[in-house]
Amino acid sequence: MNPNRRSILSVPGHRESMHAKAAGSAADVVMLDLEDSCPPGEKVAAREVVKASALNLDWSRHTLTLRINDLAGPFALRDVLDLIPEIGPKLDTVVVPKVESAAQMHYLDHLLTALETEAGINKPVGIEAIIESARALRDATEIAEATPRMKCLVFGVADYSASINMPLSSISGHGEADGLYPGDPLHFVYSRLILCGKASGLKVIDAPYGNFRDAEGLKVAAARSRALGFDGKWAIHPSQIEVVNEAFTPSEEEVERAKAVLHAFEEAKASGKGATAIGSSMIDQASVRMAEDVMARVNALFS
Ligand code: GLV
Ligand code: MG
Repeated sequence: MNPNRRSILSVPGHRESMHAKAAGSAADVVMLDLEDSCPPGEKVAAREVVKASALNLDWSRHTLTLRINDLAGPFALRDVLDLIPEIGPKLDTVVVPKVESAAQMHYLDHLLTALETEAGINKPVGIEAIIESARALRDATEIAEATPRMKCLVFGVADYSASINMPLSSISGHGEADGLYPGDPLHFVYSRLILCGKASGLKVIDAPYGNFRDAEGLKVAAARSRALGFDGKWAIHPSQIEVVNEAFTPSEEEVERAKAVLHAFEEAKASGKGATAIGSSMIDQASVRMAEDVMARVNALFS
Protein backbone atom coordinates (compact mmCIF):
# COMPACT_ATOMS: atom_id res chain seq x y z
CA MET A 1 0.00 0.00 0.00
CA ASN A 2 1.11 3.53 -0.79
CA PRO A 3 1.07 5.78 2.32
CA ASN A 4 0.31 8.91 0.26
CA ARG A 5 -2.91 10.18 -1.26
CA ARG A 6 -1.79 12.94 -3.61
CA SER A 7 -3.20 11.58 -6.86
CA ILE A 8 -6.20 9.29 -7.18
CA LEU A 9 -6.51 7.82 -10.67
CA SER A 10 -10.08 6.89 -11.53
CA VAL A 11 -10.42 4.05 -14.05
CA PRO A 12 -13.67 2.73 -15.54
CA GLY A 13 -14.55 -0.63 -13.97
CA HIS A 14 -15.33 -2.33 -17.29
CA ARG A 15 -12.07 -1.31 -19.07
CA GLU A 16 -9.64 -4.09 -18.18
CA SER A 17 -6.73 -2.74 -20.24
CA MET A 18 -6.90 0.53 -18.33
CA HIS A 19 -6.55 -1.35 -15.04
CA ALA A 20 -3.22 -2.86 -16.09
CA LYS A 21 -1.99 0.58 -17.16
CA ALA A 22 -3.15 2.07 -13.87
CA ALA A 23 -1.27 -0.60 -11.93
CA GLY A 24 1.91 0.53 -13.69
CA SER A 25 1.23 4.24 -13.17
CA ALA A 26 2.68 6.70 -10.67
CA ALA A 27 -0.71 7.41 -9.06
CA ASP A 28 -0.71 7.03 -5.28
CA VAL A 29 -4.25 5.66 -5.34
CA VAL A 30 -6.06 3.77 -8.09
CA MET A 31 -9.84 3.79 -7.91
CA LEU A 32 -11.71 1.15 -9.89
CA ASP A 33 -14.99 2.84 -10.80
CA LEU A 34 -18.34 1.10 -11.09
CA GLU A 35 -20.28 4.38 -11.03
CA ASP A 36 -20.37 7.18 -13.57
CA SER A 37 -17.56 6.12 -15.92
CA CYS A 38 -19.15 2.67 -16.26
CA PRO A 39 -22.27 2.65 -18.49
CA PRO A 40 -25.45 1.02 -17.13
CA GLY A 41 -25.23 -1.83 -19.65
CA GLU A 42 -21.74 -2.75 -18.38
CA LYS A 43 -22.29 -2.40 -14.65
CA VAL A 44 -23.05 -6.05 -13.88
CA ALA A 45 -20.27 -7.49 -16.07
CA ALA A 46 -17.83 -4.88 -14.73
CA ARG A 47 -17.97 -6.49 -11.28
CA GLU A 48 -16.15 -9.56 -12.63
CA VAL A 49 -13.60 -7.38 -14.43
CA VAL A 50 -12.93 -5.41 -11.26
CA LYS A 51 -12.67 -8.60 -9.21
CA ALA A 52 -10.09 -10.12 -11.57
CA SER A 53 -8.05 -6.91 -11.68
CA ALA A 54 -8.06 -6.49 -7.91
CA LEU A 55 -6.95 -10.10 -7.39
CA ASN A 56 -4.51 -10.56 -10.26
CA LEU A 57 -2.70 -7.29 -10.85
CA ASP A 58 0.19 -6.08 -8.74
CA TRP A 59 -1.04 -3.18 -6.61
CA SER A 60 1.89 -3.13 -4.22
CA ARG A 61 2.92 0.42 -5.22
CA HIS A 62 -0.61 1.75 -4.87
CA THR A 63 -3.53 2.10 -2.56
CA LEU A 64 -6.51 0.42 -4.20
CA THR A 65 -10.08 1.68 -3.80
CA LEU A 66 -13.42 0.82 -5.38
CA ARG A 67 -16.18 3.26 -6.26
CA ILE A 68 -19.50 1.46 -5.96
CA ASN A 69 -22.79 2.80 -7.29
CA ASP A 70 -25.20 5.12 -5.52
CA LEU A 71 -26.52 3.35 -2.40
CA ALA A 72 -30.05 4.46 -3.29
CA GLY A 73 -29.89 2.95 -6.80
CA PRO A 74 -30.30 -0.57 -8.23
CA PHE A 75 -26.62 -1.65 -8.38
CA ALA A 76 -24.89 -0.78 -5.12
CA LEU A 77 -26.18 -3.62 -2.96
CA ARG A 78 -24.86 -6.29 -5.37
CA ASP A 79 -21.62 -4.33 -5.87
CA VAL A 80 -21.00 -4.72 -2.15
CA LEU A 81 -22.38 -8.26 -1.69
CA ASP A 82 -20.52 -9.69 -4.68
CA LEU A 83 -17.21 -7.92 -4.28
CA ILE A 84 -16.38 -7.32 -0.64
CA PRO A 85 -16.12 -10.99 0.44
CA GLU A 86 -13.67 -11.59 -2.43
CA ILE A 87 -11.66 -8.41 -2.80
CA GLY A 88 -12.27 -6.65 0.52
CA PRO A 89 -8.77 -7.47 1.81
CA LYS A 90 -7.21 -5.87 -1.31
CA LEU A 91 -9.10 -2.61 -0.84
CA ASP A 92 -8.24 0.31 1.37
CA THR A 93 -11.66 1.89 0.96
CA VAL A 94 -15.03 1.68 -0.68
CA VAL A 95 -15.77 5.06 -2.28
CA VAL A 96 -19.45 5.94 -2.02
CA PRO A 97 -20.97 8.41 -4.48
CA LYS A 98 -23.97 10.66 -3.90
CA VAL A 99 -23.91 10.21 -0.14
CA GLU A 100 -26.95 11.91 1.34
CA SER A 101 -26.84 11.13 5.05
CA ALA A 102 -24.94 9.65 7.97
CA ALA A 103 -27.67 6.97 8.09
CA GLN A 104 -26.44 5.65 4.72
CA MET A 105 -22.94 5.33 6.17
CA HIS A 106 -24.34 3.41 9.17
CA TYR A 107 -26.17 1.08 6.79
CA LEU A 108 -23.02 0.44 4.76
CA ASP A 109 -20.95 -0.02 7.90
CA HIS A 110 -23.30 -2.76 9.16
CA LEU A 111 -23.41 -4.44 5.78
CA LEU A 112 -19.61 -4.46 5.53
CA THR A 113 -19.27 -5.79 9.08
CA ALA A 114 -21.68 -8.64 8.35
CA LEU A 115 -19.85 -9.58 5.13
CA GLU A 116 -16.40 -9.33 6.69
CA THR A 117 -17.49 -11.45 9.65
CA GLU A 118 -18.95 -14.13 7.38
CA ALA A 119 -15.86 -14.17 5.15
CA GLY A 120 -13.39 -14.15 8.08
CA ILE A 121 -11.85 -10.86 6.94
CA ASN A 122 -10.16 -9.13 9.85
CA LYS A 123 -9.01 -5.94 8.12
CA PRO A 124 -12.10 -3.72 7.97
CA VAL A 125 -12.37 -1.82 4.70
CA GLY A 126 -12.57 1.97 5.05
CA ILE A 127 -15.17 4.29 3.54
CA GLU A 128 -14.75 7.48 1.50
CA ALA A 129 -17.86 9.61 1.09
CA ILE A 130 -18.27 11.72 -2.02
CA ILE A 131 -19.98 14.95 -1.05
CA GLU A 132 -21.85 16.08 -4.14
CA SER A 133 -25.15 17.63 -3.13
CA ALA A 134 -26.25 20.60 -1.05
CA ARG A 135 -27.71 18.27 1.56
CA ALA A 136 -24.50 16.27 1.90
CA LEU A 137 -22.47 19.46 2.23
CA ARG A 138 -24.81 20.71 4.93
CA ASP A 139 -24.51 17.38 6.83
CA ALA A 140 -20.81 16.79 6.10
CA THR A 141 -19.81 16.59 9.77
CA GLU A 142 -22.39 13.92 10.61
CA ILE A 143 -21.33 11.98 7.51
CA ALA A 144 -17.62 12.31 8.38
CA GLU A 145 -18.24 11.03 11.91
CA ALA A 146 -20.78 8.32 11.06
CA THR A 147 -18.47 5.34 11.63
CA PRO A 148 -14.81 4.64 12.46
CA ARG A 149 -14.50 3.33 8.90
CA MET A 150 -14.62 6.88 7.50
CA LYS A 151 -11.26 7.86 5.95
CA CYS A 152 -11.92 10.64 3.43
CA LEU A 153 -14.40 13.21 2.24
CA VAL A 154 -14.20 13.69 -1.51
CA PHE A 155 -15.66 16.59 -3.45
CA GLY A 156 -17.81 15.69 -6.48
CA VAL A 157 -17.77 18.97 -8.34
CA ALA A 158 -19.98 18.09 -11.30
CA ASP A 159 -22.79 16.42 -9.37
CA TYR A 160 -22.62 19.14 -6.71
CA SER A 161 -22.90 21.86 -9.36
CA ALA A 162 -25.87 20.04 -10.89
CA SER A 163 -27.50 19.62 -7.48
CA ILE A 164 -27.59 23.37 -6.88
CA ASN A 165 -28.40 24.36 -10.50
CA MET A 166 -25.08 26.03 -11.29
CA PRO A 167 -24.70 26.83 -14.99
CA LEU A 168 -22.63 24.45 -17.13
CA SER A 169 -19.91 27.02 -17.55
CA SER A 170 -17.27 24.83 -19.21
CA ILE A 171 -17.56 21.80 -21.46
CA SER A 172 -17.13 19.20 -18.73
CA GLY A 173 -18.25 21.20 -15.70
CA HIS A 174 -15.40 19.66 -13.71
CA GLY A 175 -13.73 22.60 -12.07
CA GLU A 176 -12.34 24.59 -15.00
CA ALA A 177 -12.26 28.35 -14.33
CA ASP A 178 -15.09 30.18 -16.04
CA GLY A 179 -14.81 33.88 -15.22
CA LEU A 180 -18.57 34.12 -14.61
CA TYR A 181 -18.16 35.00 -10.97
CA PRO A 182 -15.74 37.45 -9.36
CA GLY A 183 -13.64 34.93 -7.43
CA ASP A 184 -14.13 31.18 -7.33
CA PRO A 185 -17.83 30.32 -7.02
CA LEU A 186 -16.90 27.10 -5.21
CA HIS A 187 -14.61 28.67 -2.65
CA PHE A 188 -17.08 28.30 0.21
CA VAL A 189 -17.77 24.69 -0.76
CA TYR A 190 -14.09 23.75 -0.72
CA SER A 191 -13.52 25.47 2.59
CA ARG A 192 -16.56 23.94 4.26
CA LEU A 193 -15.59 20.48 3.08
CA ILE A 194 -12.04 20.90 4.33
CA LEU A 195 -13.29 22.29 7.64
CA CYS A 196 -15.70 19.39 8.25
CA GLY A 197 -13.32 16.69 7.07
CA LYS A 198 -10.29 17.91 8.99
CA ALA A 199 -12.30 18.58 12.15
CA SER A 200 -13.25 14.90 12.04
CA GLY A 201 -9.68 13.74 11.40
CA LEU A 202 -10.28 12.71 7.78
CA LYS A 203 -8.34 13.34 4.58
CA VAL A 204 -10.12 15.65 2.13
CA ILE A 205 -9.76 15.04 -1.58
CA ASP A 206 -10.60 17.37 -4.45
CA ALA A 207 -12.56 16.49 -7.57
CA PRO A 208 -10.86 15.89 -10.92
CA TYR A 209 -10.07 18.57 -13.47
CA GLY A 210 -12.21 17.82 -16.50
CA ASN A 211 -10.08 19.05 -19.40
CA PHE A 212 -7.41 16.35 -19.57
CA ARG A 213 -5.49 18.14 -22.33
CA ASP A 214 -5.14 21.37 -20.36
CA ALA A 215 -2.07 20.66 -18.21
CA GLU A 216 -1.61 24.35 -17.35
CA GLY A 217 -5.20 24.69 -16.12
CA LEU A 218 -4.79 21.51 -14.07
CA LYS A 219 -1.58 22.84 -12.55
CA VAL A 220 -3.33 26.01 -11.40
CA ALA A 221 -6.36 24.10 -10.09
CA ALA A 222 -4.22 21.56 -8.20
CA ALA A 223 -2.03 24.28 -6.68
CA ARG A 224 -5.16 26.06 -5.52
CA SER A 225 -6.50 22.82 -3.97
CA ARG A 226 -3.27 22.29 -2.07
CA ALA A 227 -3.21 25.94 -0.96
CA LEU A 228 -6.65 25.49 0.59
CA GLY A 229 -5.68 22.36 2.52
CA PHE A 230 -6.89 19.51 0.31
CA ASP A 231 -4.74 16.36 0.67
CA GLY A 232 -5.01 15.20 -2.93
CA LYS A 233 -6.94 15.36 -6.16
CA TRP A 234 -8.50 12.87 -8.53
CA ALA A 235 -7.08 12.32 -11.98
CA ILE A 236 -9.25 11.08 -14.83
CA HIS A 237 -6.41 10.52 -17.27
CA PRO A 238 -2.89 9.12 -16.71
CA SER A 239 -1.42 12.34 -18.14
CA GLN A 240 -2.75 14.22 -15.11
CA ILE A 241 -0.93 12.14 -12.49
CA GLU A 242 2.46 13.80 -12.65
CA VAL A 243 1.01 17.32 -12.45
CA VAL A 244 -1.14 16.39 -9.46
CA ASN A 245 1.67 14.57 -7.66
CA GLU A 246 3.91 17.57 -8.09
CA ALA A 247 1.29 20.00 -6.82
CA PHE A 248 0.90 17.96 -3.61
CA THR A 249 4.62 17.40 -3.06
CA PRO A 250 6.32 20.14 -1.01
CA SER A 251 8.60 22.10 -3.33
CA GLU A 252 12.34 22.44 -2.64
CA GLU A 253 11.73 26.06 -1.70
CA GLU A 254 9.04 25.03 0.79
CA VAL A 255 11.34 22.42 2.34
CA GLU A 256 14.20 24.91 2.63
CA ARG A 257 11.84 27.39 4.27
CA ALA A 258 10.61 24.74 6.71
CA LYS A 259 14.17 23.78 7.64
CA ALA A 260 15.08 27.45 8.17
CA VAL A 261 12.06 27.92 10.45
CA LEU A 262 12.93 24.85 12.54
CA HIS A 263 16.57 25.89 12.79
CA ALA A 264 15.76 29.49 13.76
CA PHE A 265 13.29 28.34 16.36
CA GLU A 266 15.74 25.86 17.90
CA GLU A 267 18.24 28.70 18.29
CA ALA A 268 15.58 30.96 19.81
CA LYS A 269 14.56 28.25 22.25
CA ALA A 270 18.16 27.68 23.32
CA SER A 271 18.40 31.34 24.27
CA GLY A 272 15.10 31.20 26.18
CA LYS A 273 12.88 32.99 23.61
CA GLY A 274 9.37 31.91 22.58
CA ALA A 275 9.46 33.67 19.21
CA THR A 276 12.07 34.88 16.79
CA ALA A 277 12.33 36.28 13.25
CA ILE A 278 13.87 35.41 9.92
CA GLY A 279 14.50 38.80 8.33
CA SER A 280 11.36 40.72 9.21
CA SER A 281 9.10 37.63 9.42
CA MET A 282 8.00 36.43 12.83
CA ILE A 283 8.53 32.77 13.71
CA ASP A 284 6.58 31.27 16.61
CA GLN A 285 5.23 27.89 17.68
CA ALA A 286 2.54 28.00 14.99
CA SER A 287 5.18 28.56 12.28
CA VAL A 288 7.01 25.55 13.72
CA ARG A 289 3.88 23.40 13.49
CA MET A 290 3.49 24.29 9.80
CA ALA A 291 7.17 23.59 9.17
CA GLU A 292 6.86 20.23 10.95
CA ASP A 293 3.89 19.34 8.77
CA VAL A 294 5.96 20.03 5.64
CA MET A 295 8.78 17.82 6.94
CA ALA A 296 6.33 15.04 7.87
CA ARG A 297 4.94 15.11 4.32
CA VAL A 298 8.42 14.94 2.85
CA ASN A 299 9.38 12.08 5.12
CA ALA A 300 6.24 10.13 4.21
CA LEU A 301 7.00 10.64 0.52
CA PHE A 302 10.70 9.92 0.42
CA SER A 303 11.51 7.61 3.32
C1 GLV B 1 -17.57 13.30 -9.35
O1 GLV B 1 -18.14 12.31 -8.99
C2 GLV B 1 -18.28 14.50 -9.74
O2 GLV B 1 -19.52 14.47 -9.72
O3 GLV B 1 -17.62 15.50 -10.08
MG1 MG C 1 -20.32 12.51 -9.18
